Amino acid sequence: MKISTKKPVQGASTPEIPEHDAAEESWHLIQRAKRETGYGAKLKLKAGAVAAPDRYSADVAEAVLEEDGNAVDAAIAVAFVLAVTYPEAGNIGGGGFMNIHFDGQPYFLDYRECAPAQATRDMYLDDAGEVVPGKSVVGRHSVAIPGTVRGLWDAHQRFGTMSWQRLLDPAIRYAKQGFVVHRQLIERRDVMLADFECKTNFTRFFGAMAQGKVFRQPDLGNTLTRIAKYGVSEFYLGATAEMLVRQLSTYDVPITRDDLRNYCTVWRKPLIETWNGYQVVTAPPPSSGGIGLIQLLKMKEVLKGAFAGVAHNSAQYVHLFSELAKRVFADRAEYLGDPDFQTLPVDRLLHPAYLRSRAMEIDLAAPSKIGAVKPGLQESDETTHFSIIDKAGNAVSNTYTLNSKFGSGVVVEGAGFLLNNDMDDFSCKPGVANRFGLVGTDINAIAPGKRMLSSMTPTILTKDGQVSLVIGTPGGSRIFGSIFQVINNVHDFGMSLTQAVAEMRVHHQLLPVDTVYWEPYAPIEGVLAEELIGRGYNLQPRFTNGDIQVIRVNDDMPEAAADPRARGTVRLVN
Ligand code: GLY
Repeated sequence: MKISTKKPVQGASTPEIPEHDAAEESWHLIQRAKRETGYGAKLKLKAGAVAAPDRYSADVAEAVLEEDGNAVDAAIAVAFVLAVTYPEAGNIGGGGFMNIHFDGQPYFLDYRECAPAQATRDMYLDDAGEVVPGKSVVGRHSVAIPGTVRGLWDAHQRFGTMSWQRLLDPAIRYAKQGFVVHRQLIERRDVMLADFECKTNFTRFFGAMAQGKVFRQPDLGNTLTRIAKYGVSEFYLGATAEMLVRQLSTYDVPITRDDLRNYCTVWRKPLIETWNGYQVVTAPPPSSGGIGLIQLLKMKEVLKGAFAGVAHNSAQYVHLFSELAKRVFADRAEYLGDPDFQTLPVDRLLHPAYLRSRAMEIDLAAPSKIGAVKPGLQESDETTHFSIIDKAGNAVSNTYTLNSKFGSGVVVEGAGFLLNNDMDDFSCKPGVANRFGLVGTDINAIAPGKRMLSSMTPTILTKDGQVSLVIGTPGGSRIFGSIFQVINNVHDFGMSLTQAVAEMRVHHQLLPVDTVYWEPYAPIEGVLAEELIGRGYNLQPRFTNGDIQVIRVNDDMPEAAADPRARGTVRLVN
């Protein structure tokens, strides 16, 4: 079974053996000595900054930065807190990507989930070869091997300066003592109750949660306490692993102890492309997001003339964006999957000549006919993102996910955490759309140990080696288009960061044909709607187009903006 090139760290097989405690202590002392002797980055900014999806995680990041922790320390603490206070997407039962700028160097940590060893290409098909509705979406059948705890651990091992226990403490506190529940969390919970009822144990764990009331999760608190004490081996080898395996054991494609033991993260080379004097450092496969973002930015450059003078969010602007996005999604479906399982034509997809010819195909006035958009070379409002920069100029752009809201809806009994439903990001059957309406081909078919294609696009723009923008968002298939639109709002239209994030965003993804999705937050209506319909577009409302968390650095001062679409907030740390 191929999971990754990196061997797992061998550790104790039970949590009774605290394998890393002594090592952690001496390691921590070395890190502190390094910090005190000025090893690594110098003071470069007047402040650190955080844009986080809720106030609890923002508070925790602020406290870590105030204690002189770095951006990675803060990211680890935030990720664990969100697993408690933002259960619809924050997680320890899912996976994600962390884009890190540290001491001037780019790093990209892939902690995406992967398929268990017994997974098969046809596991979601019935005897007639048809996709069984909902099987890859709700319940224990939809769960992939979680990567988050391993990812946070590996980031800590490489860059952390504060103790692991210290970074988990706030999450443990919020789980055991509780946090006050936000209205939006209840709204999202209520949307999912009917889907999960009878199929999962979700209601038993989250049914009592009430707006404005304190919600406690003692099982989760105990799990986090064990992870704080015993480290990564607790989740993948210890009592938590045992509970997880027991929960899924009666399913015909279980996650086994071997699956957990063998799970590894991968440090990947990020995609780096020059654009308008910036280095765009973004997500490589198994995300399609970085390729999508760069294709959009570069094709738009080719069409500079066509975009010149086009008013922001006018019918022509939405049309041009849709024409570009259509081609990106055609390539996504045909060419992208797990790079450890097949060679992907990334260089060719980003080649200037290819992007030029692709951009030149577009119809400047009306939607191109779908049949005319062939793959060129011959994913919901879930997931969550945070952006952090420390005073030394180190930055983290992190997107992680349970896939859809509250993932599979399955809570690990005794351990109190939700499991993902990221198996639905595979193509269950080539040519048949998943819950985001995305189609795929064999390249993203299910295989043991394989990572499913993602759209998560944690991105950092640098200029002259310094961080200029840290950006990302949830939104499944809408992620990279949302980031593209916000970058354009800032770059082309000179908007303030707050306005750039708050503006209406649209989405187009090739299929359904000529459909532009709008968001109830900022509907397409009036003249704009009439003009787009007149050009042949079908306008559909769906979710919101993301929840951007972004930081921009102006000289030596960061500013941050959180998307008004959700409950995010920002902090500056002097
Ligand atoms: N599950 C959403 C994504 O990976 O893009």
